[in-house]
Amino acid sequence: MLVFHLSVMIKLFFQLDASICPEKCDCPSKNGIYCSGPHIKDLELLNLPCNMTEIHITNANISNLQDVFARMVDLQHLILSSNNIALVSPTAFKGLGRLKVLKLLDNKLVELSPEAFDDMVQLQQLILESNRLNSVEENLFDKLASLQELYLNKNQLTALPSGVMKKLAKLRVLNLSRNYLAALPRNIFSALARLERLMLYINRLSSIESGMFDSLKELQELFLHSNIIHSIAPDAFHCLRKLRTLTLSRNRLQALPSGLFLHLHDLSKLTLYKNPLKSLPEVLFGEMRHLGSLWLYHTKLSTIPDFVFSNLTNLELLVLSFNPELMVLPRNVFSGLNELRGLSLHTNNISSLPEGIFLSLQKLQNISLFDTRLEVLPRNLFHNLKHLQKVYLNSTNLQSLPADFFTALPELEEVVLDDNPWKCDCQILGFQEWLRKSTTIVKNVPSLTCHSPVALQNISLVSLSIDDPECLPATAMTYQTFSSTYAQTLTSPVTGHFTSSQEKTAVAVSNMEIISTPMSVPPATLGFTYSHAEEVGQPGLHFSDVPVQTSPSIIARTSSVRGTDLTTLVWWDEFPAHSSAKPYFKTRVTYCQLFLCVHSLILTLQTVVIVLSLYVMGNTRQLLHSRNIPAQPVVLIRILRR
Ligand SMILES: *[C@@H]1O[C@H](CO)[C@@H](O)[C@H](O)[C@H]1NC(C)=O
Ligand SMILES: *[C@@H]1O[C@H](CO)[C@@H](O)[C@H](O)[C@H]1NC(C)=O
Ligand SMILES: *[C@@H]1O[C@H](CO)[C@@H](O)[C@H](O)[C@H]1NC(C)=O
Ligand SMILES: *[C@@H]1O[C@H](CO)[C@@H](O)[C@H](O)[C@H]1NC(C)=O
Ligand SMILES: *[C@@H]1O[C@H](CO)[C@@H](O)[C@H](O)[C@H]1NC(C)=O
Ligand SMILES: *[C@@H]1O[C@H](CO)[C@@H](O)[C@H](O)[C@H]1NC(C)=O
Ligand SMILES: *[C@@H]1O[C@H](CO)[C@@H](O)[C@H](O)[C@H]1NC(C)=O
Ligand SMILES: *[C@@H]1O[C@H](CO)[C@@H](O)[C@H](O)[C@H]1NC(C)=O
Repeated sequence: MLVFHLSVMIKLFFQLDASICPEKCDCPSKNGIYCSGPHIKDLELLNLPCNMTEIHITNANISNLQDVFARMVDLQHLILSSNNIALVSPTAFKGLGRLKVLKLLDNKLVELSPEAFDDMVQLQQLILESNRLNSVEENLFDKLASLQELYLNKNQLTALPSGVMKKLAKLRVLNLSRNYLAALPRNIFSALARLERLMLYINRLSSIESGMFDSLKELQELFLHSNIIHSIAPDAFHCLRKLRTLTLSRNRLQALPSGLFLHLHDLSKLTLYKNPLKSLPEVLFGEMRHLGSLWLYHTKLSTIPDFVFSNLTNLELLVLSFNPELMVLPRNVFSGLNELRGLSLHTNNISSLPEGIFLSLQKLQNISLFDTRLEVLPRNLFHNLKHLQKVYLNSTNLQSLPADFFTALPELEEVVLDDNPWKCDCQILGFQEWLRKSTTIVKNVPSLTCHSPVALQNISLVSLSIDDPECLPATAMTYQTFSSTYAQTLTSPVTGHFTSSQEKTAVAVSNMEIISTPMSVPPATLGFTYSHAEEVGQPGLHFSDVPVQTSPSIIARTSSVRGTDLTTLVWWDEFPAHSSAKPYFKTRVTYCQLFLCVHSLILTLQTVVIVLSLYVMGNTRQLLHSRNIPAQPVVLIRILRR
């Protein structure tokens, strides 16, 4: 309160001192006047002094701008925002030769007379944003040779005359967004050799012709999103060597011409999402060392060509989620993305991933694969991803995962596996064991439930007793399965076998609905916005629910080492050897070697016995022979059977 009174007094003091400040206005400095409020209806009545350099009149109610400012030759800043101005006299700004900034933001201007700005040879910034202009005269800006920033956004412009910018050689910023521009004359920007930012978003442009941007050698930002662009000339962007930002999202592009971005080496932001893209050309991106993220969601892509991103060597985030028709990703699609940290691949129609698809992504930290039709995953899918921290594999069709699927990931901190139709047979035992040990990493472990067999439906996977009778038949045929697998993994290359099991196609699943359509959500939130859910799965809470060592059935089972091992080995048969799987493999091998040893020990013993008995037999025969008595084999058999 005190501060308020003080400031009022200071203001009064200055007003008195200046002694020229009009009623109802503020004059914080001797050169500037601020007047505001709907009570201001007629500027003539304000008696504005004519030697001001700065005049702000805002939120007044002036429909008609007369000549009050004419010949205020000292005026440099004239701010007339939100004043209901609908008409500007052709001579309203006569003589304002020193004006640098003119803001007519948020008024009701429908048109401007062609000479309105003719004396403003020093004008640098002209803001006509948020009016109702539906056209501008070709000569309107002809005298504005010093203009650097022109804001015509939020008007109702449907077209622009081709020569309207021809004298604006110093223009750096041109905001034409939020109009109704349906087409642009081919040479409209040809004089703008210094333009750095061009905003054309939210208009009705349907095509980008060749040559339209060819003069814009200094352009750094080009916003073309939210138009209805369905075609772009293949060389439309070839001269924009300094371009850093290009937005093409929310258009009607079904295809992109080959090599469209080949020369945009400085690009650091590119948006393409929300276009009905059906395919991408094999060559699209040139080397782009600064491109950090690429947003390609809400398209109609069914596949993505191999190597298409291979020039994006510094890409850190790639968003390919929400592509409901995306079904196939070829093995080398992510080739070259050596710096990728985040890969968003959720909500699509992918049912399998080729082995080695993530081989280039050594720096990957987060990957979202939820809401997909994934059925089987290559055993070593993540094995080279040493920095993987977060994996989202919820709401897929996965029925099982290999025991060592996540074990080679030292930095893993969050795995979400909810809503998967786990098949609780003997093959899931290894994975179950990992789950038990990973309750701090895997979110909400007790909620992972069996989907099949029916008898086990809705039973928590991790609390499941593995003494279930289903596993017994597998135990019975253990030795045979083991030895054949072992022989196979030793001799044959693995991949062929693997692919066949992985390419199993399953019953068609009801099409997923894309519920979330983040129309207004800024793109940056789309990647990994899961933080809200993180509080739910408190690892400590669930720990007691997990019968780690308590269940008698489990203790019983662990004592029958051989049976458990070999049932998990059946898995081996489906997902044969990979180098990274060695630790797991070794323990199995040791047990089995033990078994083999015992077996061969018995065999050796038997052989020794046979040899011994033969020896004995020989001796006996010799003995008998020497005594001329015929041999009696019956005795020998007795020895053997002992
Ligand atoms: C403007 O003119 C008035 C007298 O008309 C004078 O008192 C004042 O100092 C002038 N201000 C400037 C900034 O020249
Ligand atoms: C502005 O003036 C017009 C008449 O000129 C009047 O109808 C309108 O209500 C006024 N608006 C405000 C906010 O005072
Ligand atoms: C262009 O105009 C829009 C309003 O239509 C505004 O939000 C945006 O800030 C302007 N762009 C620049 C670069 O000032
Ligand atoms: C990578 O960029 C180079 C030129 O910068 C280009 O010749 C090549 O075709 C591009 N490769 C791909 C796969 O786009
Ligand atoms: C997803 O793939 C299945 C076949 O695998 C197909 O029937 C379905 O139409 C696809 N969904 C979409 C949205 O393309
Ligand atoms: C991965 O998740 C971590 C933890 O939430 C976050 O700090 C990091 O920025 C994410 N990385 C990427 C590339 O999204
Ligand atoms: C499992 O739960 C689902 C939904 O809660 C239910 O529809 C289904 O009948 C349950 N199955 C069994 C075997 O209890
Ligand atoms: C998958 O899990 C993440 C993280 O908890 C969550 O944000 C996402 O909505 C889940 N997806 C589905 C389809 O449940």
